[in-house]
Formats: sequence, structure tokens, C-alpha cells
Amino acid sequence: MTILSLTINGRKHGPMDVRDDLSMNDLLREMLGMTGTKFGCGAAQCLSCAIIVDNPDGTSYTSPTCIAPAVNFDGKSIRTVEGHARDGELSALQKAFIDHFAFQCGYCTAGFLNEGQVLLERLSRTPVARDALEATIAEALDGHLCRCTGYIKYHEAVRDVILADAKRYLIATK
Ligand code: FES
Ligand code: FES
Repeated sequence: MTILSLTINGRKHGPMDVRDDLSMNDLLREMLGMTGTKFGCGAAQCLSCAIIVDNPDGTSYTSPTCIAPAVNFDGKSIRTVEGHARDGELSALQKAFIDHFAFQCGYCTAGFLNEGQVLLERLSRTPVARDALEATIAEALDGHLCRCTGYIKYHEAVRDVILADAKRYLIATK
């Protein structure tokens, strides 16, 4: 057993005793009841289980949770799909996903949402040129599998959010 403490969506959890072989996915879903994080392939191949991990320097990245031991997240600050809405208001990305009907069964959606959010935050720090945008989105979402094949709609939804606030996410052109 290991004593684990972490911050999830801005709220501290722990210290709590967890088995060393407990996966992060089981910690979230089974112990904390946060079932928005899905379990798909169970082999780090589909990223439906991906969450956001926040670095102290303000950068962030996504991580699968299905094969990752929960103890690896000790002391970290993470975000899950449950953390995107603020005061009952969906995020711009969540609204765009709905507007585009990007998801069908929704199983992959939390992973795409987390990845898209990480991309938005990265672009707000380091904007890209408009002509690099399509490749940038494709590269960011690459690796997330959607069994319902909603890839284009996810891509378009992320693009819409970026273009709606182009001053923030894109390098200004003269
Ligand atoms: S369930 Fe974790 S990558 Fe597929
Ligand atoms: S919406 Fe069904 S797996 Fe992506």
C-alpha cells in the first residue's frame, strides 16, 4: 500500500491508502466515483481514458489512466472531464462538440475534450500560423481512437473554437 494525495479539478484528495497495483482509472472511477473518465482498450492504445496532468510551470499534457498506476500521480494536479464546466456553464470546447454533434456513443469524448483543451492552452501560450492550424489540430488529436469514427467532427469543433478567438490562438498576419 502507498499513501497518495493529489489534486483533481482543483480539489485536494487524500491522503489515502491505495494498493500499489491500483490503476489511475480505477482510482477515479471505482474509488472516487468519477466515471467521466472511460476505460476502453485497457492497453494505452485508444486514449479514451486520458486525463490532463498540470505541470507547476503552467504547461500540461494528457496521460492515459488505464495502465498507469495511481501512485504515479502522487502529488500531482490533474483535470478530468468533470472539471471543464464552470458554475454549470460548459466550456467553449464542450459547446463546440455539441454544436458539431462530434460524439455519437460518447465513449471517446472525454479523451478528445482533454486533448483539445491542452491544445487550446498550448496555443494561447504559443500561437501558430493559420496555415499550420489543420496539421496542428490533427497532430494533437492523433492517437485518440473513436470507434464511431467522429474524427472530422472533433477536428472541426476544435478548429471552430480556435478561429472564434483567433487573436488568442493564432499568429497575427499582416
Ligand atoms: S483505455 Fe486507456 S488507452 Fe484505451
Ligand atoms: S463517439 Fe463513440 S467511440 Fe467516439
